[in-house]
Amino acid sequence: MTALLPSAVAAPATTGRRTVSGMDPDPGWWRDAVVYQIYPRSFADGDGDGIGDLLGIRSRLPYLADLGVDAVWLSPFYPSPLADGGYDVVDHRDVDPRLGTLDEFDDLVADAHALGVRVIVDVVPNHTSDRHPWFLEALASPRGSRARGRYVFRDGTGPDGAQPPSDWRSHFGGSAWQPVGDGQWYLHLFAREQPDLNWDQDEVREDFLTTLRFWADRGVDGFRVDVAHALAKDLRHPLRSQPHLDTRLPLDGSDPLYDREEVHEIYRSWRQVLDEYDPPRMAVGETWTPTNPRTYLYSRPDELGQVFDFSLLKAQWGAASFRDVVTRSLAEQLAVGGAPTWVLSSHDVPRHATRYGLPPGTDLDAWLAGDGRAVPLDAEVAARRARAATLLMLALPGSAYLYQGEELGLLEVADLPADRLQDPVYERTGHALKGRDGCRVPIPWTAHERAFGFGDGEPWLPQPEWFADFAASTQEGRADSSLELYRRAIAQRRTLRRPDPVRWLDQVDPEVLHLARGDWHCVVSFADRDHEVDGELLLTSDRAGEQDVRTADGFVLRPETAAWFRR
Ligand code: GLC
Repeated sequence: MTALLPSAVAAPATTGRRTVSGMDPDPGWWRDAVVYQIYPRSFADGDGDGIGDLLGIRSRLPYLADLGVDAVWLSPFYPSPLADGGYDVVDHRDVDPRLGTLDEFDDLVADAHALGVRVIVDVVPNHTSDRHPWFLEALASPRGSRARGRYVFRDGTGPDGAQPPSDWRSHFGGSAWQPVGDGQWYLHLFAREQPDLNWDQDEVREDFLTTLRFWADRGVDGFRVDVAHALAKDLRHPLRSQPHLDTRLPLDGSDPLYDREEVHEIYRSWRQVLDEYDPPRMAVGETWTPTNPRTYLYSRPDELGQVFDFSLLKAQWGAASFRDVVTRSLAEQLAVGGAPTWVLSSHDVPRHATRYGLPPGTDLDAWLAGDGRAVPLDAEVAARRARAATLLMLALPGSAYLYQGEELGLLEVADLPADRLQDPVYERTGHALKGRDGCRVPIPWTAHERAFGFGDGEPWLPQPEWFADFAASTQEGRADSSLELYRRAIAQRRTLRRPDPVRWLDQVDPEVLHLARGDWHCVVSFADRDHEVDGELLLTSDRAGEQDVRTADGFVLRPETAAWFRR
C-alpha cells in the first residue's frame, strides 16, 4: 500500500473538478447530497492484515473528494465478533482494534472535513452482539432480572417449554428464538448472535442517546439507523403470531414487530438530541420493507429527516417501472416534508450492474447459489444500463446513496467458494442462500498491485482475476470509463441542481423517459432504437462520448443510454 500519506490529505486545494473550500455551510446539505457508503472491512487495508480499516479509508479520502461526494457513510467499525459483518456490536462507542482507534477516527473526521467531505456513522439500535456486556450479564442473571429485561427473554412453550415462545422468524432463516438452557429463550430477528434489545426499557433508550452524543461530539455529521422500523415491538403476553417477515407487512401499523406507531416516539427523542448540535446532525433510517406511504413517516422533520427509499433498487429495468417509482417516491416523500433518497446498490443486495445484466425474471438467489453459472450475465448490457441508471438517479431531487465500487461499474462476485463465505445467511438457511458476500469483496484500486491495491495482506474475501479490468487505476483518465462518468456527473450535478420540482415531458416513444428540473433535462432510453433529441448536450452515459452523438440541433440517444442536456 503506497498511498498512506496524511500530508497528501492535509493540504487539499483543488481537485481539478471542484475547488475545495471546506464544507458546504448549509445545514440542509443532506437534503440533496451524494453520499458514498463505505463498508470498512472491504474498502482499503492500511495495516496489511487483510481487513480494511480506518487508516485505509483515510488514505483514500482524496479519491473520494475527487469523486465529488458530499459525505461518506461508514458501515459499522465498532468492536464486533463479526457474526454479521459488524452489525453485531459489542461497544457502540469504540473502534474495533482490527480497524483502528478512536484517535484514528478523529483524524479521519478531521481529514474528511478538510477535504469538504462529511462523515455519517451507522447506529445499530435493534440488537447488540451476544458478546455485549449487557447480554453476558443477562445470561448470568436469573429470569425476571433487570439484566434480562434489557433484552427480550420469554419462557418456552409446549409441555416442557421446549418450543419457542412464538412463531416469529429470523430474517436470516429459522426461528427468531434461541434457548438459553434454563427454560428461557431470547429473541433475535437477525442472527443468533444478535439478541434484540427491549426498547420498552428506559436504560436502553438512554444508552442510545448517549451513543448519538458521543459521535456527534466527535464531529460526526449524521447517522444511518439500522433496521429503524423494528425497535418498538408489541411484547404483551401472549405474544401475537407473526409468521411472516416484514416483507408481508400489514400497512397500518398493526404488526407486532415492525413499523409500529410507537417507534416514531423514539425518533422524535433522537431528533431533539440531534438538534442540540450546530449544525443539527442528519439521520437516515433503514426500513427494509416494501416501500409504502408509511415508510416516509420516518423522514418527518421532527424525526429522522430522511429514510432510505429502496423502490428504485427494487424496480425492474424498464421505463414504466422507473417512472412509476420516481413519481410515487417524490409525491409521498414531499407529502411528509422529508428529503427524498435514491439507492441502486448497498452491502445487502447483489450489485445493480449484475442485476441489470441478467435476463428479466432471473431468480437472483438461485443464480448466486449456482455460482452465477446457470444464466450468463451480459456484461455489455450490465454496464450500459448501470451507466444510464446513474444519470437518472443523479438527476433526481434528494440524496443519492452510492455503494463503494459502484462508481467502478463493479459486478457481483457470484462464485465465491463456499468455504470462504462469511454472511450468517449462508449457514442459517442451511446453505440454500449464499448471502451477501458477493458485493462485499474488497474493492480493486490498482490493476497490477497485490490484492489490487486493497492492501498488503491476504484479503478477507478472495478477489477474482477480472477485478483488474475494473480497478480504479484502469479507469482513471479514460473518458469512457464508469469512474470518469461518475466524476463528471457528480461535478455537473453540483452546478446544475435546480430547486424546481421534477416535470415529466412526453417523448414520441414511451420507452424514453424525459424529466426536467428547470432547464436541466434528463432522458433515459429503454428503447431498442435510436432517438434524436433537441437541446444542448451536457453529458451522456453513451460510451461513444458527447462528441460522437452530437447533432446539429442536439444529439442521438442510443438504446439503453441516458443524457443530460439544457433546453
Ligand atoms: C441491516 C443491515 C444488514 C444487517 C441487518 C442486521 O439490514 O443493512 O447488513 O445484516 O441490518 O443488523
